[in-house]
Amino acid sequence: MLNNETKDIIILAIESSCDDTSASVIKNGMILSNIVSSQIIHSQYGGVVPELASRAHQKNILPVIEEALAKAKVNKNMLHAIAFTQGPGLLGSLLVGSGVAKSMSYALDIPLIGVNHMEAHVMAPFAYREDQEIPNIPLPLLCLTVSGGHTQLVLLDENHEFKIVGETRDDAAGEAFDKIAKLMGLPYPGGPMIDKLSKQGDFQRFSFAEPEIPELDFSFSGFKSSFMRFLEKEIKADPEFLNNNKADIAASVQYCIVNILIKKYKKAIKMYNPKSISIAGGVAANSLLRKSFIDLASTMGMSAIIPDFEYCTDNAGMIAVVAHQKYLKKKWTNWDQNAQARWK
Ligand code: KG4
Ligand code: ZN
Repeated sequence: MLNNETKDIIILAIESSCDDTSASVIKNGMILSNIVSSQIIHSQYGGVVPELASRAHQKNILPVIEEALAKAKVNKNMLHAIAFTQGPGLLGSLLVGSGVAKSMSYALDIPLIGVNHMEAHVMAPFAYREDQEIPNIPLPLLCLTVSGGHTQLVLLDENHEFKIVGETRDDAAGEAFDKIAKLMGLPYPGGPMIDKLSKQGDFQRFSFAEPEIPELDFSFSGFKSSFMRFLEKEIKADPEFLNNNKADIAASVQYCIVNILIKKYKKAIKMYNPKSISIAGGVAANSLLRKSFIDLASTMGMSAIIPDFEYCTDNAGMIAVVAHQKYLKKKWTNWDQNAQARWK
């Protein structure tokens, strides 16, 4: 039975693409709940271990869904569709979410909606709750998505069509933060640690070569290698170099990564002339990136859109926002469609 006898549209969305298990309930485009369970098990390994991530999703997913439904005061039988992150992401993790979503769609006899994770990051600024105004974001919107797995410049046009105008050719920006932090002996995830240390450091103390990448693409693996060589050379000359200069190293690394991102963003704004600009993904929490992004917006005479932090990092709320739009267009996903580790 399709639950379409009321005018309300209530959707449960599930996100399990990496190391956060999340579920959200959305009613008529408004978020009622957004529960995220982050997996701390990976910190001891210095990065996400795919096999452990899938197991943790298996353990967490049903309690997280129960909590999201309870918080939204929604009963399973009130749902009109089940949405899930279809990709891109870690295949084993995606399969957990898609398996649960398919089972619920089958058992409740309601449509299934597969959502592209990257599209959801771009749509995050459109998420709102009861106590917030419906976001009014002029399109086209140019969004810089920066996280542990992604670095993309995406244009969302007036017809809600997406176009990737730039992306990383190797490591993501968050991955660069994490790998450099690991070389500095800092725990995973390294981005927030580098951000914190930078506050006491001198960002001009060390400089690193910036990659020369054409167009609007990014590259961070060369930067990481040059940092590795720099550290090896300095430690050889002075074994206490790292311990004595951690804050200055962190500040200089952060400055360099943010500079690479902002330079390309500026170039993209000039090329595409968007009406709004935004940042999304975990690295959008970085204090220097936020400040530089706000400064960039004001010099270009545009308003800077930064989604609430809960919608910046991986979360099912952003999946729910896209699912609502797809529901209105009746864009269902067939039960035989699979999770896709790589998907644009
Ligand atoms: O979006 P997210 O939670 O998960 C995905 O990777 O999809 O992003 C996590 C990434 C990690 O690489 C983490 O180091 C980075 O975001 N991150 C930061 C900061 N907070 C989180 N990087 C720099 N500065 C921060 N304050
Ligand atoms: Zn993500």
